[in-house]
This record gives sequence, structure tokens and C-alpha cells, in this order.
Amino acid sequence: MNLRIFLILYTLLSFTSPIFASPASDAAFSQFKTEGASNFSAEHGKLLWSDEVINKDGEKRSCTTCHGPDPRKSGMHATTKKVIEPMAVSANAERLTDLKKMDKWFKRNCDWAWGRECTAQEKGDILKFLTGSN
Ligand code: HEC
Repeated sequence: MNLRIFLILYTLLSFTSPIFASPASDAAFSQFKTEGASNFSAEHGKLLWSDEVINKDGEKRSCTTCHGPDPRKSGMHATTKKVIEPMAVSANAERLTDLKKMDKWFKRNCDWAWGRECTAQEKGDILKFLTGSN
């Protein structure tokens, strides 16, 4: 199939399908599977998204601290107060389309919010939640 036809089909499919996958999100799921994760669950991802962890200074932190509870809406960075564009791919087509960017932010944000790295299962569940039609 030539690239143009592929791109046209891909665009059409991404508008009609309720799942907003991209080559990068597919690659991320494969990577998480090689790390032992499986059966990714958007429902569990949704719970993790607002799961609060209390850090050593007694502060409550979660993904929603910066991204907000509804990933289809913009969030606000807890310390810089900068607007963060929506995280749901249904609301922001640029989200989760770059594996390196995903890796970088998962590492940084899991560490900031939960004081540890997220597991492959947690990342996969959250990715499923954000790439679903939520
Ligand atoms: C301290 C604020 C903050 C918290 C808390 C936070 N994030 Fe983020 N996150 C950001 C910022 C800033 C970006 C990059 C902004 C952008 O791309 O617009 C980002 C980007 C991301 C990305 C990359 C998106 C992409 O397009 O590839 C992922 C994935 C992500 N965050 C996941 C999480 C998860 C999971 C949690 C909870 C464990 C979390 N974030 C908590 C600030 C935060």
C-alpha cells in the first residue's frame, strides 16, 4: 500500500474508531508486554489516574494534581501553574504519539506524584485509559 493511501485510511479510521491508538501507543503496549504486563484495563487506569499518594511532607499527590480529573480537559501544573493541554487522545490528537516523550514523562511524573516509577502494568493501564474514548 502506498504511504498516501495508508495515511488517508489511518486518518479515517482514527476518526471512526473509538480507540485512539497510534503507532507509538501500540509500540508502548508491546514494550510493556515484554516487561511482563498484560490485559491492560482502562478502568484500572482511570482509578490509578486519581489515586492519591501522601508524600513525606504530608502532601497529597496524584496524576490529577497537574492534569486534572478529566483527561479531556486542560490541567494546570501544580508548581509552575502553566496550562497543560488535555491528556486524552480523543481531545488532543498529539498526545501519546511519541514514545520517547511518553517514557520521559512517565518516569518524571510517576516519581513526582507517587515517589517511585510506575510499573509496566500501571503505565499500560493508564495508556489504555488515555487512548480510549473517555
Ligand atoms: C507536577 C505536575 C504533573 C504531575 C503530577 C503529573 N504530570 Fe504528567 N505531565 C506533566 C507535564 C508538564 C507534561 C508535559 C506537558 C505537555 O506535553 O503539554 C506531562 C506529560 C505527561 C505524559 C506525556 C504525554 C504525551 O503526550 O506523550 C504522560 C504519559 C504523563 N504526563 C503521565 C502522567 C501520569 C501517569 C501521572 C501520575 C502518575 C502524571 N503524568 C502526573 C506534568 C505532570
